[in-house]
Amino acid sequence: MPTERKHFFGFEVLSAENKTEKVQSVFSNVATYYDLMNDVMSLGTHRLWKSQLIDLVAPENHDLILDLACGTGDLTRRVIERSPNTNVIMCDLNWSMLKTGLKTIQSPFVSTIQANAESLPFINELFSKSMIAFGIRNVTDVPKALSELYRTCKHQGKVFIMEFGIPASEPEKTISKAYLNHVLPLMGDMIAGDKASYDYLAKSIQKFPNNEQFQSMLYQSGFSQVSITPILFGAVNIFSALKTK
Ligand SMILES: C[S@@+](CC[C@H](N)C(=O)[O-])C[C@H]1O[C@@H](n2cnc3c(N)ncnc32)[C@H](O)[C@@H]1O
Repeated sequence: MPTERKHFFGFEVLSAENKTEKVQSVFSNVATYYDLMNDVMSLGTHRLWKSQLIDLVAPENHDLILDLACGTGDLTRRVIERSPNTNVIMCDLNWSMLKTGLKTIQSPFVSTIQANAESLPFINELFSKSMIAFGIRNVTDVPKALSELYRTCKHQGKVFIMEFGIPASEPEKTISKAYLNHVLPLMGDMIAGDKASYDYLAKSIQKFPNNEQFQSMLYQSGFSQVSITPILFGAVNIFSALKTK
């Protein structure tokens, strides 16, 4: 008998529909102060992590890049700064996040689409590169989203996934958990007046598969040569994967 997969919203178990709905309400709530909060929570260091990701993506003029779960388009902005003639498609399920980002992105090379990562409205083998930063953790059916990334990726195309993690060794692990469980919700409350959304963020990070588990999910989706670039002792990780088949 098939076993039903559990869908965690933070530490709470929900149906697939309820999880998607609740995650989307978090991002509708945070859209207007999302970019500011990223700077505050990471003391500006998310800019360096994203820059490291764009170094790996290495955008070129002939690329067509998918920025999946793009939110306010922070990665897209960096791609077009680096390589203004690269074509990028920004895709997110949340209109409030997209709308906030579109106010500052004006490029004839960038298009935007509101869609679910689990069911992408693109033909097979369209993108030379796809990237997703801090988005995969929020998706309800992660294997489905990975198989959509695989389907829409060109032969010899690459996928880059940046996600928060929990460092494997001490004392970094304890420090990271203390920051997530105590400092982050407090900052969300003080700066954005929204403790609940940042409490969700903290819990969702702790519920996400560890590096080995996520790496094996990428292999199971069909990707090859999956490598991991840890940042800050694994508090952030970049997974790079190639489609060879
Ligand atoms: C933490 S934000 C990341 C935004 C951006 N990539 C960045 O790094 O700043 C996560 C984004 O994932 C989007 N998201 C969550 N589930 C999604 C899904 N199933 N399909 C597409 N986007 C989704 C949310 O709407 C939100 O904008």
